[in-house]
Amino acid sequence: MSNLISLLGLQWGDEGKGKVVDHLAKDLKAAVRYQGGHNAGHTLIIDGDKVVFHLLPSAICHQEIKCYLGRGVVVSLDALFEEIEDAQKYLGEIEERLIVSRACSLIQSFHIKLDQLREKSPASTTIGTTGRGIGTTYEDRVGRKSIRVQDLYNETLLKSKLEENLDYYNFIFTNYLEGEKEDINQVLDRNLDQAEMLKPYVGNVISDIHDHTSKQEKILFEGAQGALLDVSLGTYPFVTSSNSSIGGIASGVGIDPRMIDYSLGIAKAYTTRVGEGPFPTELDDSVGEHIAKVGGEVGATTGRPRRCGWLDAVLLSHTVKLNGIDGLCLTKIDVLDGLDEIKICTDYEGNSLNDLLETMSIEEVKPSYISMPGWEKPCAGIRDYEQLDGKAKSYIEKIESLCGAPIVMISTGPRREDTIVRQYPL
Ligand code: IMP
Repeated sequence: MSNLISLLGLQWGDEGKGKVVDHLAKDLKAAVRYQGGHNAGHTLIIDGDKVVFHLLPSAICHQEIKCYLGRGVVVSLDALFEEIEDAQKYLGEIEERLIVSRACSLIQSFHIKLDQLREKSPASTTIGTTGRGIGTTYEDRVGRKSIRVQDLYNETLLKSKLEENLDYYNFIFTNYLEGEKEDINQVLDRNLDQAEMLKPYVGNVISDIHDHTSKQEKILFEGAQGALLDVSLGTYPFVTSSNSSIGGIASGVGIDPRMIDYSLGIAKAYTTRVGEGPFPTELDDSVGEHIAKVGGEVGATTGRPRRCGWLDAVLLSHTVKLNGIDGLCLTKIDVLDGLDEIKICTDYEGNSLNDLLETMSIEEVKPSYISMPGWEKPCAGIRDYEQLDGKAKSYIEKIESLCGAPIVMISTGPRREDTIVRQYPL
């Protein structure tokens, strides 16, 4: 029996974590985000309406689960209040079950402006960020000048920190990036107004999580983005700015990493990526277009089309290993229904894999593939493993053997019920 579970995307994000959370929800007492910010995107269907949350854990739609934003999350108060309002419309009051750590760094208007101006500037590498000030806020966190939630409640300190920040940012805006200056009084007033609104949600995440664990309650650590976007382990520099892999949990929440007793990974049955950066198995043909269309592959946060390609078992087996994956959830297998041939990348020609994976400099690699026959009977909507076409089973079992982790859940369609549970992780 597992009590502390990590739920981690193993590709470039958008693997479909929200649906897995739905399946585990009945057993969970708490869900915690530990990194990232409102760059993530979970699309939820509540009362027949489509609601997208970016910052709140997707577990928020389950009334009995307490939701936490741990210290590793960067918080935009504008985004937070917008989502709280949306959540309350559908779910009623959430004040009692949403707790934001005092130690979270705040995304300020000037972080968003810098992110967007820099992405447009010919002098900087275009990463294809979500433009939401995520990376620029983490830069200040590491630079030890970010404004944290607790600073909102000390006006003198807040003002002096904002002055220090704006002195620097306004210089950069006006001298390098053709941006407008920000006005200290406006920024300060906005922070002070929002401080009052935030008060009921501010709490102590470390002690609450330790309370849950002492009562043997089940806690889910909900990753955002995916392991290949991890700032340390991913395809640098085309990554996000936080540790989206398992290592981020200990420091992004404040727990002993040895307490995590089940690591659940998620991967699509193929691969997608939004934004710039290497993607060895990307398909630039009608198969790629087919996958994008059938899979509805459009970014939930930015609305950008996602790039699509074959499953890359070189990268997936690597992220399985780095994240200590005990069980794997394979999503969107139904999107491959109807294809005559399905490929899996098993190697990169002529390269030392270990050296490539150390730096993730995979811009130039040439993937080598194994080819598998497509299946006749669609996977869509199947809920029992034994009902799958034998060729679909062979595909799934091939992925298991290449990646070295059991596939415990398989998602066969967008509805919650369209899921095969081979082994319930909790
Ligand atoms: P940032 O996180 O906005 O700084 O963007 C850095 C990179 O991460 C870009 O390639 C984004 O497209 C990507 N990214 C950030 N969040 C997500 C996500 O939730 N899903 C997929 N890609 C993401």
